[in-house]
Amino acid sequence: MKGIINFGLVGCGRISKNHVEALAKFTEDARLVAVCDVNAEKAKKTGEQYAADYYTNLDDMLSRGDLDAISICTPSGLHPMHGIAAAKKKLHVITEKPMATSLKKADELISACDENGVQLFVVKQNRLNSTLQLVKRAIDKGRFGRIYMVIVNVLWARPQSYYDDAKWRGTWEFDGGAFMNQASHYVDMIEWLIGPVESVSAFTGTLARKIETEDSGVAAIKFRNGAFGSINVTMLTYPKNLEGSLTIIGETGTVRVGGIAVNKIEHWEFQDYDDDDKLVGTSTYNPPNVYGFGHTGYYKNVIDTLKGTADPDTDGREGRKSLELILGIYKAAREGRSIPLPLEY
Ligand SMILES: NC(=O)c1ccc[n+]([C@@H]2O[C@H](COP(=O)([O-])OP(=O)(O)OC[C@H]3O[C@@H](n4cnc5c(N)ncnc54)[C@H](O)[C@@H]3O)[C@@H](O)[C@H]2O)c1
Repeated sequence: MKGIINFGLVGCGRISKNHVEALAKFTEDARLVAVCDVNAEKAKKTGEQYAADYYTNLDDMLSRGDLDAISICTPSGLHPMHGIAAAKKKLHVITEKPMATSLKKADELISACDENGVQLFVVKQNRLNSTLQLVKRAIDKGRFGRIYMVIVNVLWARPQSYYDDAKWRGTWEFDGGAFMNQASHYVDMIEWLIGPVESVSAFTGTLARKIETEDSGVAAIKFRNGAFGSINVTMLTYPKNLEGSLTIIGETGTVRVGGIAVNKIEHWEFQDYDDDDKLVGTSTYNPPNVYGFGHTGYYKNVIDTLKGTADPDTDGREGRKSLELILGIYKAAREGRSIPLPLEY
């Protein structure tokens, strides 16, 4: 694709700001020309703030004729419907995570993008964290030797008011629970770094919040490479976010990345030296919130891919993997047994 890429954005809520501000960093290659929200006030406010046309109906925005790509920031259960509508208009699709709340819908979105010859990007900006990039390189270089165990903790706080703020939150159809929404980057991280997964067992529960889905859960994972993993998630930490961490125990290396959102390397020890060890001190950063800074890097890859100079960091098939693991965790918890992957639906 040549020239400036015209983006439209649907869903002007909390995360939309990260998208528009990321896009604003690439003025030579991209511009936001239109936004849409069913809430007219939000649409108008975002449109006026970022000098974009605004709509309350997605079909009207998709029909304007000058768009190249759509960023989808609506409730998760709506991503497939909105993505398919955009793909049918031959627009590239950037969807927030998770790409869907069911595998069937995720596959419908992937197929629609394939059939219409457009790219599908699933936003997994945490993979670009400087801390996780170092860990990924250490794994790819084989520095851990055999990996024995991986522990992930997501000990965050979401008060009842967070769920009450928007009706879709905490529903099975539009959101999913702590694993599907808040911890989905962490499920993606463990799958990306250590996967593929052989089987999973889990307990989930709604221990305190008044929502349909889980506010807490634990998952035990057996990886195909023989490693064991566990993911502990709660949205009930008193009184605020405490930890988003990853610990990897390998034959010749031990690493722990902590902070509130895997933003701080707390332990880094390998049998053999590598020049990357010098980067450990500078890789720690302080994110403004648990969403981090990754949307800018993510959009760089989107733009480079659309310009034909890169491949997608996380396309639809890559985004589908963590969704499958989350749904495997839910199935294991529901049925009280270990669930092998891949899942059938
Ligand atoms: N990548 C990340 O780190 C990250 C962080 C937060 C949220 N998210 C994801 O972003 C998505 C949105 O989350 P949020 O917290 O911004 O939610 P939000 O409720 O703040 O915003 C959603 C917006 O979509 C609008 N909307 C709903 N239905 C619509 C429709 N049919 N057409 C147009 N607009 C519609 C709502 O009015 C609302 O303004 C979710 O899928 C969530 O999982 C990702």
